[in-house]
Amino acid sequence: MPKVTLHKGGEVFVDDVDPNTNLVVRAGIKKFPYPNLAYKCGMGKCSTCTCRVLKGGEHLEAPNWKEKRQLGDKLDEGYRLACQLWVSEDIELTQDV
Ligand code: FES
Repeated sequence: MPKVTLHKGGEVFVDDVDPNTNLVVRAGIKKFPYPNLAYKCGMGKCSTCTCRVLKGGEHLEAPNWKEKRQLGDKLDEGYRLACQLWVSEDIELTQDV
């Protein structure tokens, strides 16, 4: 099972998730990374769920058009929209407060 590590506000939250997991969908049903992952629309429109990938980004699909529109050059710095990611391998993320 993929291990997800989320850095937020100086704390680190870790849990295992099922393969092919969307972290915003999980938070929406109040499972890890709820309540620590900030998100709103879940549809790639608001950028509230923006995270920077620290490790494991090589296992993710390439950014889609919604991420390109919302994040632009920040994609090159490792930022992604958590609501657009499907996690199947270990990943480590940080989200600004
Ligand atoms: S929750 Fe709105 S863009 Fe991800």
